[in-house]
Amino acid sequence: MDATGRPAVVIDNGTGYSKIGFAGNVEPSFIIPTVVAINESCLAASSPAALSPQGKGGWLARHNAGVMADLDFFIGDEALARTHGPAYTLTYPIRHGQVDNWDAMERFWQQCIFNYLRCDPEDHYFLLTESPLTAPENREYTAEIMFETFNVSGLYIAVQAVLALAAGYTTSKCEMTGVVVDAGDGVTHVVPVAEGYVMGSSIKSIPVAGRDITSFVQQLMRERGEPVPPEDSFDVARRVKESYGYTCADIVKEFNKHDREPSKYMKQWTGTNSKTGQAYSCDIGYERFLAAESFFAPEICSSDFSTPLPEVVDKCIQSAPIDTRRALYKNIVLSGGSTLFKDFQRRLQRDIKKIVDSRTTATAAKYGGDVKPVEVNVVGHPMQRFAVWFGGSVLASASEFYTACHTKAEYEEYGPTICRTNPVFKGMF
Ligand SMILES: Nc1ncnc2c1ncn2[C@@H]1O[C@H](COP(=O)(O)OP(=O)(O)OP(=O)(O)O)[C@@H](O)[C@H]1O
Ligand SMILES: [Mg+2]
Repeated sequence: MDATGRPAVVIDNGTGYSKIGFAGNVEPSFIIPTVVAINESCLAASSPAALSPQGKGGWLARHNAGVMADLDFFIGDEALARTHGPAYTLTYPIRHGQVDNWDAMERFWQQCIFNYLRCDPEDHYFLLTESPLTAPENREYTAEIMFETFNVSGLYIAVQAVLALAAGYTTSKCEMTGVVVDAGDGVTHVVPVAEGYVMGSSIKSIPVAGRDITSFVQQLMRERGEPVPPEDSFDVARRVKESYGYTCADIVKEFNKHDREPSKYMKQWTGTNSKTGQAYSCDIGYERFLAAESFFAPEICSSDFSTPLPEVVDKCIQSAPIDTRRALYKNIVLSGGSTLFKDFQRRLQRDIKKIVDSRTTATAAKYGGDVKPVEVNVVGHPMQRFAVWFGGSVLASASEFYTACHTKAEYEEYGPTICRTNPVFKGMF
């Protein structure tokens, strides 16, 4: 069977988690941490220094060590499980949404394809994702690895925000025009899209995302003296944030509510020390709502960023062409794990609406007459957690997908530069 008859492989590599699976499925087959554990002793033994006359063994030993270095590595949860042993070093190939270590990235993809999806890349087309504002050169590196190392049949690199919008579209019947608020682990982006095209100059990035919020929760718990073992504290903070976090309507009222009835709002966390096996328990207090508040009052967790998310979204839309603004306010789509806090959608919608309404009132007062109110709609949906992957799965199952992809033959004829652009195709609408 030719590769166009088989489902495409869809991989969304995020700073924190990679979502991996096949087009046409509703959920990714695997969601694993984007991390690689490499055996350092093999790497060191295969280095040129080991070839010197003083180096132990000969070229054969070095060659064998090189082969071992190529084989002896783990990704995802298996990699994290290796942290407690000696020998292995953890590498996070993606930082703030951008690939930072191509060697580790290639190893990561290798295991995704052969050990997780267990497919032959020559038999499939691939849809990969990239963060907005990624340099075109990075697309070329990706294409080189995909076509030359893995021999894939075809490749399409999609902007994460466009896929997230497509996910909102398929679940709530909206247009391919809208603003995507993608808050993941490493970076938060606000991206306006018109008819499937990203408006590059209006994209806004916010340096507050899931990992920063986890560190903030960790710090709050540490300062209060909660008895969490230091080596487990980041993971506990993350789980506390994910399980008990919520978005409040008003921070001052929320503090008062907690103070008046601590028994109602305080939660307990029990865990076991990963080293000693001893049980411990601790309180969960204000961090329940302060975690999500990091988006609405970023100065509480970041010393160098203070613009609240609703204001950033408003600025983003205001910087877009005037004839698209109403459509953008009407379709603000949420994507990424850090938008999952309870009531996040409601608070964001309320705060954006406040900004927009006060502008409308001011305009009416200045120029007189009636100003048509602006509809503000923040869209949440059940696929929010992996909206990017889901959008990719939907688009890669459209028949036009295969014609929009760059094929192996085209790559061989024109070289990696062709992968700098990836056309918007009809199936996106
Ligand atoms: N229920 C939840 N409430 C709050 N945060 C959550 C929840 N579930 C997951 N998260 C957070 O979402 C983040 C992961 O989200 P996601 O998988 O979208 O990020 P990513 O794609 O890896 O990163 P990026 O898009 O920034 O490169 C983590 O920080 C995780 O702690
Ligand atoms: Mg992401």
